[in-house]
Amino acid sequence: MANKVIAVVGATGSQGGGVCAAILNDRQGGYTCRAITRDPAKDKARTLASQGAEVVRADLDDRGSLDKAFAGAHGAFCVTNFWEHLSAEKEKAQARNLADAARAAGVKHVIWSTLEDTRKLMPPGDTRMPMLQGKYRVPHFDGKAEADSYFQGLPVTFLVTSFYWDNLYMFGMAPKKGEDGTYSWAFPMGNRKLAGMAAEDIGKVAYGIFKAGQPYIGKRVGITGENLTIDELSRKLSKGLGIGPIAYHAVEPDAYRAFGFPGADEMGNMFQVYRDFEDAVLGARSADVARSLDPELQTFDQWLAKNKSRIPT
Ligand SMILES: NC(=O)c1ccc[n+]([C@@H]2O[C@H](COP(=O)([O-])OP(=O)(O)OC[C@H]3O[C@@H](n4cnc5c(N)ncnc54)[C@H](OP(=O)(O)O)[C@@H]3O)[C@@H](O)[C@H]2O)c1
Repeated sequence: MANKVIAVVGATGSQGGGVCAAILNDRQGGYTCRAITRDPAKDKARTLASQGAEVVRADLDDRGSLDKAFAGAHGAFCVTNFWEHLSAEKEKAQARNLADAARAAGVKHVIWSTLEDTRKLMPPGDTRMPMLQGKYRVPHFDGKAEADSYFQGLPVTFLVTSFYWDNLYMFGMAPKKGEDGTYSWAFPMGNRKLAGMAAEDIGKVAYGIFKAGQPYIGKRVGITGENLTIDELSRKLSKGLGIGPIAYHAVEPDAYRAFGFPGADEMGNMFQVYRDFEDAVLGARSADVARSLDPELQTFDQWLAKNKSRIPT
């Protein structure tokens, strides 16, 4: 029987890259990774091709290119990259193109990588955090959640993801070493737990969903690797990296939003949601469900042992 093709958006990135790796590493086979990129000549795309992926050029802003990329595919892994343009409206337009192309191609199973609508957690007049881009609390969450409706009516699984621990090296979020040689970091998280996971495990879970098929169609699947407070993360990092104690400054969200780096307001609102609505955020994500789909799901310590050389100290 011919392999089932999974068209993977973001194949050169973290989430889609994890999906492709899971397909390519599966000794049982049965699936082909169709890696979608705007630039098939880039190193990551060439590597995927050399590992056995079909590499196809498409752009989320170009619906016609997505129609071609999804043609004949059994599955489509759909993700948008808010951080490339920082616009919830643009992210929604790209998600609409993905959903419309999946519909036109008659894809049998779509996974939409989404997040929750944080506006539902507080009344519109709540002043604890600013509205951003006019009508959002956390634009990269709320925009994805609004885009869920575009996928309704399709054979879709809504995959609710978690904070990647890989942000520690990819987004410069690791503790910083001061002039006195001591380490510290600041988050507006109080003593609340952060739902986190290895970015590659998102792809492995997604592949597990494609393989399981029918039972996951129409379902919302929230995943985490492990939920840890920043103090717990500090202790684990200190031990795992073999550095001294890491001081955690539990700043207020307003102070964090005023740090001034690009996206500080957005990240401040996101961490405040994690802090103020811990039960709702953790309740929407399950490590048990993630592990049932990805038996090798990593804990933070396992992820750290594998990735510690990437974390600047
Ligand atoms: N960082 C976190 O902790 C976290 C947690 C949960 C969810 N997320 C969400 O994850 C999303 C990003 O996913 P990621 O981390 O996997 O991305 P990533 O590693 O930054 O890579 C971005 C991927 O998106 C593709 N892409 C971007 N714009 C495209 C376009 N116009 N057309 C076609 N492909 C395009 C890129 O492909 P080419 O460049 O090869 O074309 C690349 O493969 C964000 O929306 C973010 O909100 C992040």
